[in-house]
Parts: sequence; C-alpha cells; structure tokens
Amino acid sequence: MKKNIKVGIVGLGAYIPKKILTNKDLEKMVDTNDEWITTRTGIKERHIAASDEFTSTLAFYAAKEALKNAKIKAEDIELIIVATVTPDMQFPATACLVQELLGAKKAACFDVSAACAGFVYGIVMAQQFISTGCYKNALVIGAEKLSAVTDWKDRNTCVLFGDGAGAAVLSSVDNGGILTSYLGSDGALSELIMVPGGGSKKPASKETVDEGLHSIKMRGNEVFKLAVKIMSDAACKVLKQCELSVDDIDCFIPHQANKRILDAVARKMKVPEEKIFFNVAKYGNMSSAATAVALCEAYQSGRIKPGHIVVLDAFGAGLVWGACVIQWQK
Ligand code: COA
Repeated sequence: MKKNIKVGIVGLGAYIPKKILTNKDLEKMVDTNDEWITTRTGIKERHIAASDEFTSTLAFYAAKEALKNAKIKAEDIELIIVATVTPDMQFPATACLVQELLGAKKAACFDVSAACAGFVYGIVMAQQFISTGCYKNALVIGAEKLSAVTDWKDRNTCVLFGDGAGAAVLSSVDNGGILTSYLGSDGALSELIMVPGGGSKKPASKETVDEGLHSIKMRGNEVFKLAVKIMSDAACKVLKQCELSVDDIDCFIPHQANKRILDAVARKMKVPEEKIFFNVAKYGNMSSAATAVALCEAYQSGRIKPGHIVVLDAFGAGLVWGACVIQWQK
C-alpha cells in the first residue's frame, strides 16, 4: 500500500433551501427583535428546508455540484462521508441514501456525528483513506436540516440555526493539499449542547415529546466562551504544526456560529478581518454544513486562489473541534 499521497479538495458544491426566515419573521414567532439578534449574533436570516426536503436531499444537491466542479463521475467515488446531526433517520446512514440518489455504486458510505466540526472531521478521515492509497476519490458532505430539531418557541436557540449543505470532493494532488490537521473532543462538556430525546437513553415517547426533548438544548453563554478559546487554540495549533504563522493565512474559514464568536477569535489570534470569510448573516449556524458552505462560497467568489493557505476551524456539540491547513493546489 502506497503512503503519504498528497490529498486536496478538487471540487466544491453547496445547496441552500429556497425559503428564507428573516429576523422580522421570528419577531412574529417569539419575544425577540431584529436588533437583539443582529447585535448578539450577526445573523439577519436563515434558510429553511421544505417539508419534502430532507438532509439527504440537501446533501445530494450539494454533492452533485461538487462532482460537476471536480469533473468526476459519481461512479468514480469510492467513499462517501456525510457529517450530520440531523440524519434522515437513526439508520441507515444518510450517506447510503445519498449514494443511492447519486448512483455512486462503488462507494463505501457512513455518517460522522461530530456536530459543527463534522465537516472538518470528515475531511480529515477521507484524507487518511486517500493518502494511504486505499481510495482515489472521496466525497465529504456537511448537511443539516436543523429546522427539524429546533424548538420554535425557544428564543434562546431558534434565532441561531438554519438548514443547508456543502460538499467537497477529495483526490490526490501534485502539490499543496491538506498540510496538517488537528481533531479534539471533551465529553465532560457534553451537556452544554444536545438533543436529549430520541436515542437509546430516552427513546421517543409521549413523555419525551411533551417535555420537548427532541429539540436543541443549549447553555449559550458557556458555549460562547469555550468556542472562542477552543477555536483560536485549534487554529494556532495547526499553523504551528506546519510551521506557518497567522500572517501566512490567505483565507480563514471558521465555523459560522455567531459573528461575535468569530470577531473574538479574530481578535485573540490577531487575524485581520479581511482574511476571514463570513456568511453567518445569510444562513445562521448550519452546524456541519456551515464550514462546508463557507469554503464553497469562498472558493466560488475568488477568495481562494491556487497556492493560497486556507485554514478551516470548527467547534461544536460534544464538545468536539477540528482544524486543518490546506494549501490550495496550483
Ligand atoms: N431575543 C431577545 N432576548 C433574548 C433572546 C432573543 N432571541 N435570546 C435570549 N435572550 C435574552 C435572555 O433571555 C437573557 O435575558 P435575561 O437577562 O432577562 O435572562 C438575555 O437575552 C441575555 O442572555 P444571554 O444568554 O446572556 O445572552 P448572550 O449575550 O450570551 O447571547 C447567545 C446569547 C445564544 C446569542 C450567545 O450566548 C451565543 O451565541 N452562544 C453560542 C451559541 C452557539 O454558537 N452555539 C453553537 C456552537 S457550535
């Protein structure tokens, strides 16, 4: 088996559902207002999937675009990883459902549950399979229908989240590619963000529904502080691992949770704002899809050019976090 093959992202795609839910719309649903949401989160609107669109549907559209961008056929994909906390169902894996929609008959498929860091986890996992020569082409998708697990009566959380999907095709590259990565977790902090019901601990029942246990519960303020520290530490660590500094970053793509979190990370790391890609105002927090869609939009808008140093940096429920440095191939 060959070793240490360089692995890069050779195609990107995204899909955002059509329906827009603005802060003004939320004013009619809970006791909140545009000014509060904008100043505390930087979010102006988010997109909500239609009732006949599921996580697999969003993932499929994003994947189709990524394959087209990579000029790779679905039948040449050997691995599909879907990062999601909102799978279509408990099992089978959403990745298998996407495989069927794409007609990617040769692929091995599984889901990754690493919340908002799921796309970065997926990228790093796919890299391992390709760098050892096990597979040639992999598809990594971050896809979420968070609207399905949002409590639309809880103003503390419902203003934050949105639906969407982003996808990346990974293959071997001649130069650049993923230079280094770092993944971390702390299960001691698992209670900070969770959907408590519906699993083996609290299977769905009338009681779990009555108690609202099938939607996101979050201790926002604690999460906020940890996110700033963990995301800045993770980004600094990966830069150090490949002997680069903050000055070497051309495009910094943090998980789009909240503009205030991202501003605090930028201040802590001393990254100039113009190097950071933001789209949280348009989409809110799309968990695993957020970093994937941001990467895709940064690339499509010309913010990422051949040779550029790109840093992905994500954090989420678990707690989990992950960062990687990619040199965009020439
Ligand atoms: N509209 C108006 N008021 C709201 C509100 C809303 N949508 N949501 C909460 N409030 C109120 C609270 O009830 C509280 O009121 P009180 O003081 O009368 O109790 C007040 O605003 C302050 O709440 P607090 O939670 O301290 O606000 P905050 O500055 O921490 O901002 C978040 C709240 C959720 C925006 C912020 O904590 C956050 O972004 N956390 C991280 C969330 C996140 O990104 N999670 C995913 C990580 S991957």
